Amino acid sequence: MSMQGIILSVVILLFAYGIHYCWLLLPIINGYGAKYMCSSIFIVGYSERQQRTEDLDMFPMKYVTFTVNTNDLSVSASLFRFAQRKAIYRNGLGAILISELTEDQIHAQTFNKPISPDINQDNIPWSMDNKLDDDDCFPSNINQTLLQGAINNLFIERDPTKLIRTRAIVISYDVKLIAE
Ligand SMILES: *[C@@H]1O[C@H](CO)[C@@H](O)[C@H](O)[C@H]1NC(C)=O
Repeated sequence: MSMQGIILSVVILLFAYGIHYCWLLLPIINGYGAKYMCSSIFIVGYSERQQRTEDLDMFPMKYVTFTVNTNDLSVSASLFRFAQRKAIYRNGLGAILISELTEDQIHAQTFNKPISPDINQDNIPWSMDNKLDDDDCFPSNINQTLLQGAINNLFIERDPTKLIRTRAIVISYDVKLIAE
């Protein structure tokens, strides 16, 4: 085989490998995007736009096309129209990526969902529930003003090219929730 022939063969092999590699990667990219977007929209209550400009604002996710369907509570994702993946939200169960089971099989599944207890969770102290410690129990060895300042600092965006995007902070001390 001539030198040109060898080089051409290598180029064709690399090209074929590249296509094969992308082919394996596409369903993962789209599946990740569909599941993430489905949870964000139907569980967290984010808008598609919000999610696109925050968590999914990265390569190659920013080129994925999302289709949000508020009728069947699903999100489909595809990169350049290839390898579309779909995730569906089920009330009380969260979002699931359609993978081994079909969509009909997933919708046909039944679960005995626990019933929420009839209590106000805001009155039960952390870590069992939501209640933050009252100010009068605040540990005396911690300066609350300084702590609050430190927390506020973590929400300040100093570098527009490296956003930190802090969503929430919870400070636990001595098995107590002291700041949130
Ligand atoms: C807490 O820190 C602030 C800021 O440094 C200071 O002004 C204040 O005196 C401190 N409070 C206590 C109780 O030490």
